Amino acid sequence: MPTVAIVYFSGTGHTHLMAEAIAEGAARVENTTVELLRITGEQIVNGRWKNDDVIEKLNQAHAIVFGSPTYMGGVAAQFKAFIDAASEIWFRQGWKDKIAGGFTHSSSPSGDKQGTLLYLATNAAQHSMIWVNVGDLQSSLYGKNDGVNRLGGFLGVMGASQLDTSGKKAVLDLGDYLTSLRFGERIAEATKRWFK
Ligand SMILES: Cc1cc2nc3c(=O)[nH]c(=O)nc-3n(C[C@H](O)[C@H](O)[C@H](O)COP(=O)(O)O)c2cc1C
Repeated sequence: MPTVAIVYFSGTGHTHLMAEAIAEGAARVENTTVELLRITGEQIVNGRWKNDDVIEKLNQAHAIVFGSPTYMGGVAAQFKAFIDAASEIWFRQGWKDKIAGGFTHSSSPSGDKQGTLLYLATNAAQHSMIWVNVGDLQSSLYGKNDGVNRLGGFLGVMGASQLDTSGKKAVLDLGDYLTSLRFGERIAEATKRWFK
């Protein structure tokens, strides 16, 4: 039974909503098990991230989807601490040939999200993982207005919402939700094919 793990950090909840949508999409694929694994700042002690339970679940997964908000054009420090801790696995190439993918959310339509996705793909390449891209054109190109891939990102899933400092509950754009959902399905299908 293929397992898709989604490991991510989210400060104010938008990246979390994307992670949930990817999980929902992946769970639509028959016989797929999904693990949602949220990295928190509290898991970092003296600058080092550590959580044996998360690492064990990632080691067992067939696919790992990496997600972080874009902070200053790259991954959030909390997520980078997790990536650095996983370098122990890189040494023995423990995630080699697992399926991988990535997603990010930021406040600006661009917000330099590409920097985050490039970094997530580079990290997956260092682990010798098999990167799966978005696989959807902007639906507006063929006359639809559901917002699928409205931001036109292909390396990984992009989401954007205007910065809201009022402390209100995070809301995900419908198009970004659908893009995440479809990506979840795509990565679960790819995982099934790869581990057939
Ligand atoms: C430290 C910091 C740096 C940020 N840098 C960027 C940025 O480079 N580009 C951008 O569009 N938004 C930036 N933002 C806004 C966040 O990307 C946005 O609030 C985040 O995607 C929300 O995701 P979350 O709700 O999962 O935390 C930044 C926010 C913080 C706190």
